[in-house]
Amino acid sequence: NIPVITIDGPTASGKGTVAHRVAERLGFHLLDSGALYRLTALQALRRQTPLNDEHALAKLAEHLHIGFTGEAIFLSSENVTDAIRAEEVGNTASKIAALPAVRQALFGLQLGFRKAPGLVADGRDMGTVIFPNAQLKVFLTASVEARAERRYKQLIGKGISANMDDLLMDLKARDDRDTHRAIAPLVPAEGAHVLDTSDMTVELAVEQVMNWYAA
Ligand code: CDP
Repeated sequence: NIPVITIDGPTASGKGTVAHRVAERLGFHLLDSGALYRLTALQALRRQTPLNDEHALAKLAEHLHIGFTGEAIFLSSENVTDAIRAEEVGNTASKIAALPAVRQALFGLQLGFRKAPGLVADGRDMGTVIFPNAQLKVFLTASVEARAERRYKQLIGKGISANMDDLLMDLKARDDRDTHRAIAPLVPAEGAHVLDTSDMTVELAVEQVMNWYAA
Protein backbone atom coordinates (compact mmCIF):
# COMPACT_ATOMS: atom_id res chain seq x y z
CA ASN A 1 0.00 0.00 0.00
CA ILE A 2 1.97 2.97 -1.33
CA PRO A 3 1.46 6.04 0.87
CA VAL A 4 -0.13 9.18 -0.56
CA ILE A 5 -0.30 12.67 0.94
CA THR A 6 -2.84 14.97 -0.68
CA ILE A 7 -2.54 18.74 -0.49
CA ASP A 8 -5.54 20.60 -1.86
CA GLY A 9 -6.41 24.23 -1.74
CA PRO A 10 -7.27 27.40 -3.64
CA THR A 11 -5.02 29.24 -6.04
CA ALA A 12 -1.84 30.76 -4.57
CA SER A 13 -2.41 29.11 -1.18
CA GLY A 14 1.18 27.87 -1.30
CA LYS A 15 0.21 24.24 -1.83
CA GLY A 16 2.57 23.80 -4.77
CA THR A 17 5.61 24.92 -2.79
CA VAL A 18 4.60 22.99 0.32
CA ALA A 19 3.90 19.82 -1.69
CA HIS A 20 7.26 20.12 -3.40
CA ARG A 21 9.18 20.49 -0.13
CA VAL A 22 7.32 17.69 1.62
CA ALA A 23 7.97 15.37 -1.34
CA GLU A 24 11.64 16.30 -1.22
CA ARG A 25 11.90 15.68 2.51
CA LEU A 26 10.28 12.24 2.26
CA GLY A 27 11.89 11.27 -1.05
CA PHE A 28 8.39 10.84 -2.53
CA HIS A 29 7.17 11.46 -6.06
CA LEU A 30 5.20 14.62 -6.78
CA LEU A 31 2.00 15.09 -8.74
CA ASP A 32 1.26 18.70 -9.67
CA SER A 33 -2.24 17.97 -10.95
CA GLY A 34 -2.85 21.63 -11.81
CA ALA A 35 -0.07 21.33 -14.38
CA LEU A 36 -2.13 18.70 -16.21
CA TYR A 37 -5.05 21.11 -16.50
CA ARG A 38 -2.65 23.88 -17.51
CA LEU A 39 -1.05 21.65 -20.19
CA THR A 40 -4.48 20.86 -21.59
CA ALA A 41 -5.32 24.58 -21.52
CA LEU A 42 -2.10 25.54 -23.28
CA GLN A 43 -2.73 22.99 -26.00
CA ALA A 44 -6.32 24.20 -26.39
CA LEU A 45 -5.23 27.84 -26.68
CA ARG A 46 -2.60 26.97 -29.27
CA ARG A 47 -4.96 24.87 -31.34
CA GLN A 48 -7.76 27.40 -30.86
CA THR A 49 -10.06 24.67 -29.64
CA PRO A 50 -13.35 26.30 -28.60
CA LEU A 51 -13.57 26.26 -24.80
CA ASN A 52 -17.12 24.92 -24.95
CA ASP A 53 -16.20 21.92 -27.10
CA GLU A 54 -16.04 19.43 -24.24
CA HIS A 55 -15.46 16.44 -26.48
CA ALA A 56 -12.53 18.01 -28.35
CA LEU A 57 -10.96 19.25 -25.10
CA ALA A 58 -11.23 15.80 -23.53
CA LYS A 59 -9.53 14.31 -26.60
CA LEU A 60 -6.72 16.84 -26.18
CA ALA A 61 -6.34 15.91 -22.52
CA GLU A 62 -6.34 12.21 -23.32
CA HIS A 63 -3.58 12.51 -25.91
CA LEU A 64 -1.18 14.85 -24.18
CA HIS A 65 2.46 13.81 -24.42
CA ILE A 66 3.67 14.96 -21.07
CA GLY A 67 7.10 14.76 -19.52
CA PHE A 68 8.13 15.73 -15.99
CA THR A 69 11.90 15.98 -15.60
CA GLY A 70 12.94 17.36 -12.24
CA GLU A 71 11.26 20.78 -12.12
CA ALA A 72 10.81 21.04 -15.88
CA ILE A 73 7.56 20.19 -17.63
CA PHE A 74 7.47 19.11 -21.27
CA LEU A 75 4.70 18.97 -23.81
CA SER A 76 5.68 16.77 -26.77
CA SER A 77 9.39 17.42 -26.02
CA GLU A 78 8.95 21.22 -25.83
CA ASN A 79 9.88 22.75 -22.46
CA VAL A 80 6.69 24.59 -21.41
CA THR A 81 7.58 25.08 -17.72
CA ASP A 82 7.16 28.87 -17.99
CA ALA A 83 4.51 28.91 -20.71
CA ILE A 84 1.96 27.02 -18.59
CA ARG A 85 2.34 29.51 -15.71
CA ALA A 86 0.93 32.43 -17.71
CA GLU A 87 -2.23 33.91 -16.17
CA GLU A 88 -4.17 33.31 -19.38
CA VAL A 89 -3.30 29.62 -19.22
CA GLY A 90 -4.33 29.44 -15.55
CA ASN A 91 -7.66 31.08 -16.26
CA THR A 92 -8.31 28.78 -19.20
CA ALA A 93 -7.31 25.79 -17.08
CA SER A 94 -9.89 26.69 -14.47
CA LYS A 95 -12.58 26.95 -17.16
CA ILE A 96 -11.88 23.60 -18.80
CA ALA A 97 -11.44 21.96 -15.37
CA ALA A 98 -15.19 22.38 -14.91
CA LEU A 99 -15.87 19.97 -17.79
CA PRO A 100 -16.53 16.39 -16.61
CA ALA A 101 -15.09 14.77 -19.76
CA VAL A 102 -11.81 16.65 -19.31
CA ARG A 103 -11.55 15.54 -15.67
CA GLN A 104 -12.36 11.98 -16.68
CA ALA A 105 -9.68 12.05 -19.38
CA LEU A 106 -7.04 13.01 -16.80
CA PHE A 107 -8.21 10.56 -14.13
CA GLY A 108 -6.14 7.46 -14.99
CA LEU A 109 -3.06 9.51 -15.74
CA GLN A 110 -3.13 10.90 -12.18
CA LEU A 111 -3.55 7.50 -10.53
CA GLY A 112 -0.41 6.38 -12.36
CA PHE A 113 1.70 8.80 -10.33
CA ARG A 114 1.26 6.62 -7.25
CA LYS A 115 4.60 4.82 -7.20
CA ALA A 116 6.92 3.57 -4.47
CA PRO A 117 8.12 4.87 -2.11
CA GLY A 118 5.20 7.32 -2.03
CA LEU A 119 3.42 10.31 -3.57
CA VAL A 120 2.60 13.86 -2.61
CA ALA A 121 -0.26 15.08 -4.81
CA ASP A 122 -1.36 18.70 -4.97
CA GLY A 123 -4.47 20.15 -6.55
CA ARG A 124 -8.15 20.71 -5.89
CA ASP A 125 -9.61 17.22 -5.71
CA MET A 126 -6.65 15.02 -4.74
CA GLY A 127 -8.23 14.05 -1.41
CA THR A 128 -11.87 14.11 -2.50
CA VAL A 129 -11.79 12.32 -5.87
CA ILE A 130 -8.40 11.01 -6.99
CA PHE A 131 -6.90 9.58 -3.77
CA PRO A 132 -9.79 9.40 -1.27
CA ASN A 133 -7.90 6.74 0.72
CA ALA A 134 -4.75 8.83 1.16
CA GLN A 135 -2.83 8.36 4.42
CA LEU A 136 -2.81 12.12 5.03
CA LYS A 137 -5.07 14.79 3.56
CA VAL A 138 -4.30 18.47 3.93
CA PHE A 139 -6.38 21.46 2.90
CA LEU A 140 -4.17 24.54 2.61
CA THR A 141 -5.84 27.88 2.51
CA ALA A 142 -5.11 31.58 3.07
CA SER A 143 -7.05 34.82 2.90
CA VAL A 144 -7.71 36.17 -0.58
CA GLU A 145 -5.52 39.21 0.22
CA ALA A 146 -2.57 37.10 1.34
CA ARG A 147 -2.87 34.98 -1.76
CA ALA A 148 -3.10 37.95 -4.13
CA GLU A 149 0.00 39.42 -2.52
CA ARG A 150 1.91 36.17 -2.96
CA ARG A 151 0.93 35.93 -6.61
CA TYR A 152 1.93 39.58 -7.06
CA LYS A 153 5.39 39.00 -5.60
CA GLN A 154 5.80 35.83 -7.68
CA LEU A 155 5.05 37.69 -10.90
CA ILE A 156 7.17 40.73 -10.07
CA GLY A 157 9.99 38.37 -9.07
CA LYS A 158 9.83 36.85 -12.54
CA GLY A 159 9.97 40.32 -14.11
CA ILE A 160 6.32 40.16 -15.16
CA SER A 161 4.31 43.33 -14.54
CA ALA A 162 1.23 42.85 -12.39
CA ASN A 163 -1.65 44.87 -11.03
CA MET A 164 -2.97 44.11 -7.56
CA ASP A 165 -6.61 44.96 -8.35
CA ASP A 166 -6.62 42.75 -11.44
CA LEU A 167 -4.99 39.93 -9.50
CA LEU A 168 -7.57 40.15 -6.73
CA MET A 169 -10.38 40.08 -9.29
CA ASP A 170 -8.89 37.09 -11.15
CA LEU A 171 -8.28 35.23 -7.93
CA LYS A 172 -11.85 35.69 -6.72
CA ALA A 173 -13.22 34.65 -10.11
CA ARG A 174 -11.09 31.51 -10.06
CA ASP A 175 -12.05 30.70 -6.46
CA ASP A 176 -15.66 31.12 -7.41
CA ARG A 177 -15.40 28.79 -10.41
CA ASP A 178 -13.39 26.17 -8.49
CA THR A 179 -15.72 26.09 -5.47
CA HIS A 180 -19.05 26.31 -7.27
CA ARG A 181 -18.57 23.96 -10.16
CA ALA A 182 -20.81 20.91 -10.30
CA ILE A 183 -17.96 18.40 -10.56
CA ALA A 184 -15.10 17.96 -8.07
CA PRO A 185 -15.68 21.31 -6.35
CA LEU A 186 -12.92 22.66 -4.15
CA VAL A 187 -13.84 21.60 -0.59
CA PRO A 188 -11.79 20.02 2.18
CA ALA A 189 -11.85 16.23 1.85
CA GLU A 190 -13.38 14.15 4.61
CA GLY A 191 -10.79 13.85 7.34
CA ALA A 192 -8.58 16.59 5.92
CA HIS A 193 -6.44 18.75 8.20
CA VAL A 194 -7.15 22.40 7.38
CA LEU A 195 -4.18 24.76 7.52
CA ASP A 196 -4.58 28.51 7.10
CA THR A 197 -1.23 29.86 5.92
CA SER A 198 -2.17 33.57 5.78
CA ASP A 199 0.32 34.40 8.53
CA MET A 200 2.57 31.40 8.17
CA THR A 201 5.90 30.91 6.45
CA VAL A 202 6.34 28.07 3.97
CA GLU A 203 8.80 26.44 6.38
CA LEU A 204 6.22 26.33 9.17
CA ALA A 205 3.56 24.94 6.87
CA VAL A 206 5.97 22.20 5.75
CA GLU A 207 6.79 21.37 9.40
CA GLN A 208 3.11 21.10 10.23
CA VAL A 209 2.45 18.70 7.35
CA MET A 210 5.51 16.62 8.28
CA ASN A 211 4.29 16.42 11.88
CA TRP A 212 0.83 15.30 10.81
CA TYR A 213 2.35 12.65 8.58
CA ALA A 214 4.61 11.36 11.35
CA ALA A 215 1.73 11.26 13.85
O1 CDP B 1 -1.38 27.76 -9.51
P1 CDP B 1 -2.82 27.68 -9.17
O2 CDP B 1 -3.10 27.17 -7.80
O3 CDP B 1 -3.57 28.89 -9.50
O4 CDP B 1 -3.46 26.64 -10.16
P2 CDP B 1 -3.10 25.16 -10.47
O5 CDP B 1 -3.02 24.34 -9.25
O6 CDP B 1 -1.92 25.13 -11.39
O7 CDP B 1 -4.41 24.72 -11.28
C1 CDP B 1 -4.91 25.46 -12.37
C2 CDP B 1 -6.42 25.23 -12.46
O8 CDP B 1 -6.67 23.85 -12.71
C3 CDP B 1 -7.18 25.55 -11.18
O9 CDP B 1 -7.69 26.87 -11.17
C4 CDP B 1 -8.32 24.53 -11.15
O10 CDP B 1 -9.48 25.04 -11.74
C5 CDP B 1 -7.82 23.41 -12.00
N1 CDP B 1 -7.49 22.22 -11.19
C6 CDP B 1 -8.49 21.33 -10.88
O11 CDP B 1 -9.64 21.56 -11.23
N2 CDP B 1 -8.21 20.19 -10.20
C7 CDP B 1 -6.97 19.93 -9.80
N3 CDP B 1 -6.73 18.81 -9.15
C8 CDP B 1 -5.93 20.84 -10.05
C9 CDP B 1 -6.22 21.99 -10.75
